[in-house]
Amino acid sequence: MKIVPFTASAMDSYAEFWWSIYADLPYVVRADAYQASMLPAPGPTPGYFISNLQGGLGGDHQKHWAGEVTDDTVVVAEADGAVAGILIASVDSEKRAGNILSAFVRRDGRGRQAATATLQEILERFGRMGLSRAVATPDWTRGIEVENPVHLALLDAGFAWERDWSPAYPLVEYSVCLGGVLGEFRVQPEIHASIERLRKEETIEIEKVDHERFARLRRLDTGQPPEPFVGHETFVALYEGLVAGWLPECDVGKDEFGRMFGESVPEVIHGFRNRGIGKALYHLGMEEVVRQGGEYGFTGTTAHNPARLIYRSIGFRYWYTSFCLLSKRLPGRES
Ligand SMILES: CC(C)(COP(=O)(O)OP(=O)(O)OC[C@H]1O[C@@H](n2cnc3c(N)ncnc32)[C@H](O)[C@@H]1OP(=O)(O)O)[C@@H](O)C(=O)NCCC(=O)NCCS
Repeated sequence: MKIVPFTASAMDSYAEFWWSIYADLPYVVRADAYQASMLPAPGPTPGYFISNLQGGLGGDHQKHWAGEVTDDTVVVAEADGAVAGILIASVDSEKRAGNILSAFVRRDGRGRQAATATLQEILERFGRMGLSRAVATPDWTRGIEVENPVHLALLDAGFAWERDWSPAYPLVEYSVCLGGVLGEFRVQPEIHASIERLRKEETIEIEKVDHERFARLRRLDTGQPPEPFVGHETFVALYEGLVAGWLPECDVGKDEFGRMFGESVPEVIHGFRNRGIGKALYHLGMEEVVRQGGEYGFTGTTAHNPARLIYRSIGFRYWYTSFCLLSKRLPGRES
């Protein structure tokens, strides 16, 4: 295993290696650590990796990349003359931090060696650049897969949680990411039965509402209107006319391949949880986004959140568990 310089002329072999990791999976993680669904086709191809990385190197994604990406922040490991690992980082000069965004290695013993070698190399480079801290990854929306051997390499290298590192998102934990094709998703009879039971036995009414009606509603816990939701219409669960549960998001959008994705998020007030309200709202919401053209979806939630059971119940399957915000102070530098 040896570290070799990143060269733009070898892009095809990097992309081929990346594709050899993801071709059989339902998702890909791109160089800037954002994920994309492989289905429905046509979706990402090896060229997707190249255009994404070129975008970072060209400096046109500052927000996404959380810093500057250069040839020096892309580390390539080689074994027996072939690419064995690629680690992509960025430098946030203001925070004097090096951000490890994504790392591509195989999920086997050799992958573990490549993870260790590329990680050690980037830490040395960060040190030479005068940075005080390394962070993997700085943004909770783009985590690295726990299943990626780089997770163990980071733990071995002394990375740990630092709750205060990102005050905007102080309590981010390990998350699960799930997704799948929505097809002709419809609310099934058992959910309709559950809605009927909520109505008859618990006097909880589920209603479809637009923004105007939603803005006039009040939350059961605070007496205040809920924050405006994302989408055209949403669903609410009302108890004595007050909001006990709702979908803060119920929307569709178009991805970079022209495919429509559907998104929905359930929220239920404490004391009304674990009665089937969240699941009923979410199923109704996803049926609605399918009606609006949603073809597929993916979503994430913290590892122990029961929301993952709801997401799985519409047919989404687990993609991976992710982590973020593991950090390490670099030796000999003040924080
Ligand atoms: C996530 C949330 C919406 C779930 O709503 P809910 O009305 O309590 O969920 P439901 O009653 O429909 O339960 C859905 C499933 O989770 C299970 N479940 C719910 N709470 C659970 C708990 N505390 N422990 C174990 N299982 C639980 C239910 O048994 C049910 O499983 P089943 O369909 O196999 O029977 C609610 O906990 C919440 O509002 N949390 C805060 C906001 C949030 O995190 N939203 C998701 C953001 S990603």
